[in-house]
Amino acid sequence: MTNFTKLMAAGAVACLPLGSPALADGTVEVLHWWTSGGEAKALGELKSAFEAQDGTWTDSPIAGGGGDAAMTALRARVVAGNPPTAVQLKGPGIQEWAEQGALNDVQHVATDEHWDDVLPPVLAEIMKYDGKYVAAPVNIHRVDWMWGNPDLLEQAGVTQMPTTWDAFNAAADKLMAAGITPLAHGGQPWQDATLFEDVVLGVGGADFYRSALVDLDAAALRSDTMVASFDQLRKLRGYVDPNFSGRDWNLATAMVMRGEAAFQIMGDWAKGEFLAAGKVPGEDFTCTPTPGNGFVLNADSFTFFKVSGEPNLRGQQVLASLIMSPDFQKAFNLAKGSIPARTDVPLDDFDICAQRSHEDLLKATENGTLVPSMAHEMAVPRSVRGEFLDLVTEFFNSDMSSQDAVNRLADAAARAM
Ligand code: GAL
Repeated sequence: MTNFTKLMAAGAVACLPLGSPALADGTVEVLHWWTSGGEAKALGELKSAFEAQDGTWTDSPIAGGGGDAAMTALRARVVAGNPPTAVQLKGPGIQEWAEQGALNDVQHVATDEHWDDVLPPVLAEIMKYDGKYVAAPVNIHRVDWMWGNPDLLEQAGVTQMPTTWDAFNAAADKLMAAGITPLAHGGQPWQDATLFEDVVLGVGGADFYRSALVDLDAAALRSDTMVASFDQLRKLRGYVDPNFSGRDWNLATAMVMRGEAAFQIMGDWAKGEFLAAGKVPGEDFTCTPTPGNGFVLNADSFTFFKVSGEPNLRGQQVLASLIMSPDFQKAFNLAKGSIPARTDVPLDDFDICAQRSHEDLLKATENGTLVPSMAHEMAVPRSVRGEFLDLVTEFFNSDMSSQDAVNRLADAAARAM
């Protein structure tokens, strides 16, 4: 047992209400999609903390960035009447499962540990159904990040990080002229949609993003601003290498590390990959928000499914308590690339990218530019997201015009609502 896991065990037990039975024999089966280097390292923190209390952990990884394969597997398990104990699941998906009566709550752990006092209200609301916590948040990821290889940028004479999409295009053109692939990208629907939503924020601003990708306002979806967003996405398509199709996101991150491409636009789980490979932010790689003003939010959480039997129920409570303990939130997020969901965890030991994320999150909360990620299931029902991802991917992989894309996006929203 490492010092950290001992500490975690002690911390978690100390958090349990007085007189609660020993929880050492809890059992969990955890379904997740954290299989890349950085992701697996972060999840390992939770597993070892749970096992340090003599809990029994069964790992059920379903590979596939963004979690679409995991969500398909989850549905099959629930339909078969055999749900996992805890599932990495987030956003409106939590409410959708709760409405179907598929979840257990962990409210008494939340009450004893005063979760309401230490979580941003916007996150707390997402975790609750009918006023009770049915999920526990582990982190706050930022989606609108641009990761850069400083050597390649220098080589091409890109001396300033672009803060507008026009400046990004100018930098990309310089890189191309120097024989460098500007953008490392993996052609999978959720990755295409990640580019798309960052572009929508940058081109249209936060209010426009919200009208179009959260409220699904028809006028916003059909607007010239949305046409301009697709125009910019088309530009980005021209900056990727010929082998982008189907590539996993962490392999795109590796291209930036190895000097095969200058930028990757991806959430800060990419930072987990850089860190797992021993790279240092500010030296080996750069982190800059994508052009625009705002913060695209993606928070991971574990949701507790309807299992029965004392060991499983105990497992859910111990896991909930561990997830929300400050020490775990620190250790996990240092590895994952995100920042803690709890607002009271000091960030002194976090790197410059995490510090920037935290500052920008506070600013965005204050000035109303914090928006939930559509690509990462924080914004709209799964059915709408599915339609949007299909369309964005088709656009990215064809010569569809921006006007056609806009018409089809608006039609898809109307159909899915
Ligand atoms: C996101 C998830 C992150 C990250 C990524 C790639 O949807 O929230 O934690 O791991 O997928 O798998």
